[in-house]
Amino acid sequence: MNRVTLPDKHMTDSRRIAILGSTGSIGNQALEVVAESRGVLQPVLLSAGRRVEPLLEQAQRFHPERIVIIDPDREEADLTTFARDTKVEMHCGEQAQYRAIQELNLDLVLNGITGAAGLRASMTSLQCGIDLALANKESLVSAGPLLRLAAEKSGARILPVDSEHGAILQCIAASDPSTIERIVITASGGPFRGYTKEDLEKVTPDQALNHPTWKMGSRISVDSATLFNKVLELIEAQQLFGIPPGGIEVLVHPQSIVHAIVEFQDGSSIAQLGEPDMKVPIRNALYRGDRPAGTFRPLDLVGRGELTFEQIDSDTFPALEIGRVALENPGTTLGAVLNAADEEAVAAFLSGDVGFLQIYDLVERALLEHSPILVENLEQIIEADHQTRERVRSWTT
Ligand SMILES: NC(=O)c1ccc[n+]([C@@H]2O[C@H](COP(=O)([O-])OP(=O)(O)OC[C@H]3O[C@@H](n4cnc5c(N)ncnc54)[C@H](OP(=O)(O)O)[C@@H]3O)[C@@H](O)[C@H]2O)c1
Repeated sequence: MNRVTLPDKHMTDSRRIAILGSTGSIGNQALEVVAESRGVLQPVLLSAGRRVEPLLEQAQRFHPERIVIIDPDREEADLTTFARDTKVEMHCGEQAQYRAIQELNLDLVLNGITGAAGLRASMTSLQCGIDLALANKESLVSAGPLLRLAAEKSGARILPVDSEHGAILQCIAASDPSTIERIVITASGGPFRGYTKEDLEKVTPDQALNHPTWKMGSRISVDSATLFNKVLELIEAQQLFGIPPGGIEVLVHPQSIVHAIVEFQDGSSIAQLGEPDMKVPIRNALYRGDRPAGTFRPLDLVGRGELTFEQIDSDTFPALEIGRVALENPGTTLGAVLNAADEEAVAAFLSGDVGFLQIYDLVERALLEHSPILVENLEQIIEADHQTRERVRSWTT
């Protein structure tokens, strides 16, 4: 590990930040970055879905001004019984989270909420003109054009936290975006790389959650095993960077060292490399592309031996084929349907109601049975999301 040194002089202005989903994998790693910042990053708002105890432990350590538990079943009075030792203001419910984003004079919101539940928080942040460090790719998949419009109107920036998208941004750097020829993002291939369809019929949730290179929350871990995560990331890339003439491609790269490659029209290809560690892209987003010192595992190319790249086995892992319809119809409700169907199918797989291969069938059926419309407002997306969830649940119970 490299030693932590003080942030550079020009990075010592403190920044008031919110970490939404602070109890999750991204949230916890973001708090590690905060701890290294020596007061530069001030986490004034933390929020979580249901788990009060880890949120309170974070509050005791990081002293935010406010914490919010989204769980609608949790009464505020009930919450205060947990709060005797802390002076932090505590609230419950989704509305309390949006109010906090509006009221706390934030410089940046990190959205580390999992699933479509993160959408309104992304929208609220951008409408308030607050820069959004976005781990919650589901927001962009469901409502990319609306979020971009909100950002454009308020002047806020969307800073991707996903390692591939943070990498693309770094590869582009100051280059003219119109000179990009092609973008390549990488996929580890997940825990079942090399498996056959017959093998996949027997895999268990525990096996699917055991990702070879990244430690992540359960939904994204299963998405990495099915490769639906790459479909979500392709839509995310399309929304953030547009589609260059040569397209956006996915290559399987099991070592997870090269995160993205941008090929320019002059024939130069620029890649971003690093050992797999989400703190690096999180740090990059929280500091808006500046490069403060922090802990990281130095890149060890000799130790790695070789870096390999291969095409996705689409016959065995048909996620890209199934999701293509959403990719080819951006700005429609198909993104929200894809995301909601996948979220429900993953939940059904994790609870043992369906097998791994049925995730593909459920998402495909949800997309086929949906009549897409061009999205004009958030309510249409939320409606498509709800309808899809109900449908998929009716097929799995
Ligand atoms: N983990 C990674 O390495 C990684 C990498 C790239 C992108 N991402 C993206 O980052 C996001 C978070 O992933 P993760 O792996 O950190 O997930 P995670 O470990 O499951 O954490 C999810 C967080 O969201 C909170 N949450 C759950 N339901 C909520 C709701 N309805 N409203 C508000 N908050 C809710 C959880 O609170 P509780 O603890 O109370 O349940 C938890 O704090 C996802 O969009 C994922 O695709 C993750």
